Amino acid sequence: MNTSLINARLVTCQPGYEGYQPSPLSKVVIKDGLIDAVGPMEQSIEDDDQSLSIDCEGKLLTPGFIDCHTHLIFAGQRSNEFEQRLNGQSYQDILNAGGGILSTVRETRKASHQELLDLALPRLDGLISSGVTSIEVKSGYGLTLEDELKMLRVAKDLSQHRAIKVSTTLLAAHTLPPEYSHRSDDYVDLICEEIIPHAAEHRLADSIDVFCESIGFNLSQTERIFKSAHQHGLPIKGHTEQLSNLGGSALAAKYSALSVDHIEYLDAIGVEAIARSGTVATLLPGAFYFLNEQQHPPIELLRAANVPMALATDLNPGTSPFANLLLMLNMGCTLFGLTPEEALRGVTCHAAKALGLSESRGQIAVGYEADFTLWDIQSPAELSYQFGVPILSSRIVDGVRIND
Ligand code: NIG
Ligand code: FE
Repeated sequence: MNTSLINARLVTCQPGYEGYQPSPLSKVVIKDGLIDAVGPMEQSIEDDDQSLSIDCEGKLLTPGFIDCHTHLIFAGQRSNEFEQRLNGQSYQDILNAGGGILSTVRETRKASHQELLDLALPRLDGLISSGVTSIEVKSGYGLTLEDELKMLRVAKDLSQHRAIKVSTTLLAAHTLPPEYSHRSDDYVDLICEEIIPHAAEHRLADSIDVFCESIGFNLSQTERIFKSAHQHGLPIKGHTEQLSNLGGSALAAKYSALSVDHIEYLDAIGVEAIARSGTVATLLPGAFYFLNEQQHPPIELLRAANVPMALATDLNPGTSPFANLLLMLNMGCTLFGLTPEEALRGVTCHAAKALGLSESRGQIAVGYEADFTLWDIQSPAELSYQFGVPILSSRIVDGVRIND
């Protein structure tokens, strides 16, 4: 049976001016979970007589929101470090003293699959309440073969418990685990020779990420990991140029990265490199805000080079404990100077591209997956403008209306 969404004002997020202008009252016909036809209400569109109708009552319908960068799976919390930072210590000092990412690693290693799932679901519900229908989830708090795969399995399991589509990213190269202290190349061997092959073989990862930074992995180690990813048929992403300019983004571009993320310290050469490779620039204003960073990502250069910009929560316990994607639209505009149109595209069409899904998600267009968010607002700028007002009307995933 078909489903029709009727009386919807569409913001399709297709390329071009039209993609941001709300349409007159329209109808979307859905067949087998895909968009089959789109047109104005008065135009007769062929659909099944038995089609089920969902009346959108003139509300605004966007593509389902996509949070393309999260670290949703973890145990414990780090409010103590938040206090330490406000008492003068830096994020780097805390990590170097064995805290930071490593404190979450200790907690996450101890936790079972069920415990990690139970901890993740309320956070996921926060994202869902901000209109999200697809998320990316990274590993990176396990740092052993077994614990990294455990995290990826929990991420895969989320869609058994909520109406959510999940892309998984292996981030074994998040930081050096204590048992490899002073042996970082040996840990990179483990990643390349065991963790990536296992994740690929068991289809647990859709992509491979590396934290390329002085407190993460250097350029030659990052390149070895990218090469191994490609050998196993997996695309790459990078946490690059977050705290300094090492050239990780240009390296990622050389390996046709889906996205480079954070990129506050990205320079003109890096922008040129990612423009050439068609890599998405993923902006993470929650981490910028929470770490009280001063260095802004090079928005003007990215615009001038026509680099697609995505926007995501980076939800994690250390640098962005925010389970709400609408907050990132507001922060993207207020902190980084994005326009509300750029912010909306950042969580729809460009977020889809950052996950390698630009042909199937992130737009309201024939042939695309029937994932939508219905909003109780008049104009799309309201998505970036207000925060905390309950504007979500409902989500539709694979053509099914979800009552969250
Ligand atoms: O995206 N930059 C590295 N990783 C995370 C932070 C993880 C943590 O502090 O637990 C980030 O900011
Ligand atoms: Fe991150």
